[in-house]
Amino acid sequence: MIIAGNWKMNTLPNEAEELVRNILQGLQDKKFDSEIVVCPPFTNLHTVSALITGSKIKLGAQNCYYEPKGAFTGEISIPMLKYFDVEYIIIGHSERRTYFGETDEIINRKARAILEKNLKPIICIGETLSERQQGKTFEILFNQLEKCLCDLKVDDSKNLVIAYEPVWAIGTGVSATKEQIEEAHNKIKNHIQSMFGIAHDDIVLQYGGSVTSDNSEEILSIESVNGALIGGASLKSDVFLKIIEIAEKTIKN
Ligand code: PGA
Repeated sequence: MIIAGNWKMNTLPNEAEELVRNILQGLQDKKFDSEIVVCPPFTNLHTVSALITGSKIKLGAQNCYYEPKGAFTGEISIPMLKYFDVEYIIIGHSERRTYFGETDEIINRKARAILEKNLKPIICIGETLSERQQGKTFEILFNQLEKCLCDLKVDDSKNLVIAYEPVWAIGTGVSATKEQIEEAHNKIKNHIQSMFGIAHDDIVLQYGGSVTSDNSEEILSIESVNGALIGGASLKSDVFLKIIEIAEKTIKN
């Protein structure tokens, strides 16, 4: 179970510090088997990295560029992130696809570069509302998977995390239903299985989109759900801690 908080473009350093201190305090002396990841904005990686050193919380970034260095003004490379002990990198988030023109081909280049450096990409896929209404959900998802995972090797799947995030569920307060998540997750896992020949149990598939402490029990209990990518609710330490507590109860064997 991987519970990841995507802080998006939120928190100044003092706010990031307070948030992470509260999370650390809430987890203190607690035994937990879930992988807990926080993904602050780049400008707070340094602060958060220092605070979580020695704890079981892992650090994630919200984006990266695939070239290791050079004349790419405004971009952040994977070695730069690795320096701060980043382990996970979210790529292909729908906000990046929509506002910053990130294509499946770019996401694929990022995924390959991340895996090459032994870090873990969290690759987001998901359909828009109109695509769902037109009955195109699985055509879209399979196409995203094929392009984003193009040329990856079976071995790469060990470090791969996929997040199914229906675009219409992100930040709207309306999460996908249990049935919709079950259907999508099973089909996504079948598709990845057919691409790489790996078993469902070896595929890590998170759900994201309006996950809260109120709906996380139902969502995380679904057999094919291996974690959650949480936006808004990860900015409140008490809510995030509650979701972690629920995740622990729903861990599958
Ligand atoms: P949300 O965002 O939890 O605020 O819906 C999820 C995400 O964008 O990853």
